[in-house]
Amino acid sequence: MTDEQPDSRADAPERETVEVTVYEFVGGEPFFATLVDRFYAGVMADPVLAPMYPVDDLEGAKYRLRSFLVQFWGGPDTYSQERGHPRLRMRHFPFAIGQDERDRWMTHMRAAVEAAETIPEVKGMLLGYFENSATAMRNQADR
Ligand code: HEM
Repeated sequence: MTDEQPDSRADAPERETVEVTVYEFVGGEPFFATLVDRFYAGVMADPVLAPMYPVDDLEGAKYRLRSFLVQFWGGPDTYSQERGHPRLRMRHFPFAIGQDERDRWMTHMRAAVEAAETIPEVKGMLLGYFENSATAMRNQADR
């Protein structure tokens, strides 16, 4: 036994915990730009989902999803500055979203998340969030 108490050393940086947002952890905007690009590649090849999206404004649609995700995961609040409160469920009312549409959307988003370059824990956070929010976006009974 010695008088030394290793666990209480004030100069033990390896024991410090630093909290960062997901946005910071993944390296910011470029991560979400790539995620959304991959997601949209899947959506545009999907015969059920593709017709729902604005063909003449795909870049705009990508930009809206990307800036929303940046804001949600802790980045700049540009989305709300430009578009106001997200109110995502309300913004999706014009689109008929049943279980099939929801599952297709999730299939493309899951592929985009799995292809992303980050650690499994972050992928798990993203997938959990998308699973729940995609379910909440349904606005049609099953046909
Ligand atoms: C469940 C299936 C879903 C379908 C079929 C769907 C479909 C669409 C469509 C057709 C648009 C219009 C594209 C545009 O011009 O911006 C849109 C917009 C958008 N969606 Fe979804 N969506 C789904 C789920 C989700 C989820 C889960 C999120 C977020 C986690 C989300 C976030 C957004 C955002 C941020 C916009 C732009 C809203 C705006 O500012 O106008 N969507 N969605």
